Amino acid sequence: MPESFPIRIRQHPVPLAAEMGRTILETALAAGVPYPHGCRSGNCGACKSRLIAGEIDLLPHSEYALTPDERADGLVLACRSVPWSAVEIAWLDEGETVSHPIRIMTCRVAGAERMTHDIRQIRLEVLSGGPYVFSAGQYARVAFPGLPVRDYSMANTPDDPVLEFHVRHVPGGVSSSYAFESLSVGEEVRVEGPFGSSWLRENHEGPIFCLAGGSGLAPIKSIVEQAITIGFGGEIRLYHGVRGEEDIFLEDHFSALAATKAGLRYTPVLSEPRNPTSRRTGFVHDALRADIREYGDGYLQRARAYLAGPPPMVEAAAGWLETAGMPPDRIHADAFYTEAERTTPAAPA
Ligand SMILES: Cc1cc2nc3c(=O)[nH]c(=O)nc-3n(C[C@H](O)[C@H](O)[C@H](O)COP(=O)(O)OP(=O)(O)OC[C@H]3O[C@@H](n4cnc5c(N)ncnc54)[C@H](O)[C@@H]3O)c2cc1C
Ligand code: FES
Repeated sequence: MPESFPIRIRQHPVPLAAEMGRTILETALAAGVPYPHGCRSGNCGACKSRLIAGEIDLLPHSEYALTPDERADGLVLACRSVPWSAVEIAWLDEGETVSHPIRIMTCRVAGAERMTHDIRQIRLEVLSGGPYVFSAGQYARVAFPGLPVRDYSMANTPDDPVLEFHVRHVPGGVSSSYAFESLSVGEEVRVEGPFGSSWLRENHEGPIFCLAGGSGLAPIKSIVEQAITIGFGGEIRLYHGVRGEEDIFLEDHFSALAATKAGLRYTPVLSEPRNPTSRRTGFVHDALRADIREYGDGYLQRARAYLAGPPPMVEAAAGWLETAGMPPDRIHADAFYTEAERTTPAAPA
């Protein structure tokens, strides 16, 4: 039995050597191949690929990410595919890919400010390992001093040399607790990236829906600001879902942007307000659903959607958008799975 098999990726010129037991996505990313992906745990469908030749074991995954019909049609998820022969594979190309080199950088904490009772903004300047080139909406693997790596999305635009992250304190969470409670200016942080395929499609001309839940506003901020920076002339509908009034952040920032950028509409939505409120309430996709009539026929079909935040919110919003008629390849979703959720396989398809 050989120790490794060649993996041929249609979009990459050189075959890769797959190690036994590693998924195709792990091998590709380790080799610096910009393989499209999101959750790396069989939940989002961003790494959906066509298996052209060879044999793989397909690990458990959700039916949302890959349906039984798609599997029967020869599609697989690269993040759940472990080859056991030489394989040839192609990611589903929508004609637009980003291929930024993956950098491993040492950064210095330049700022750490509370944004809400449980979200902290962390600003990092790159000391070595750059230049860091990414597309708005992507994320990095961040290691705070002495702690395991975790994924955090860049909230700044790609032309900003200072990286901005919004870390929500997860009770009992190793990295977010440290980042929220202890991290201080001057400390060194390891940042590897960029990763993720829920990046702003800059050639898109139709409307853009941005649905963020909690700290999911980080990549959405980058996307909205980058769209404005490049002179995107269409409509941007930004919905930010949070539990209560105390969870809203960057309201002044987005209200000011909406006041100057024609076509940008910013709507905070409270799911569990503690007091009577004049704000929108419910789930973010329910707010969008209520507004869609006003947007008119065909609007969803012409639009693109970017979703980021807690997995249940992202999955519910993506499911609704698809049911309502938005083509799946126009729904770009980044669900913030924890490492425990990644290593616990999703419900088998
Ligand atoms: C693509 C992506 C982008 C992300 N972007 C952001 C972002 O911009 N901002 C942000 O705040 N977060 C983001 N996240 C989430 C982030 O990566 C971390 O998962 C989060 O900060 C928690 O990490 P932690 O180390 O604090 O928690 P962990 O130590 O990983 O623990 C998380 C939770 O799981 C529980 N837990 C730990 N181990 C187990 C176990 N074995 N079994 C069951 N439960 C367990 C803990 O008690 C805790 O409640 C993103 C995630 C992804 C996938
Ligand atoms: S399903 Fe493979 S990266 Fe999300």
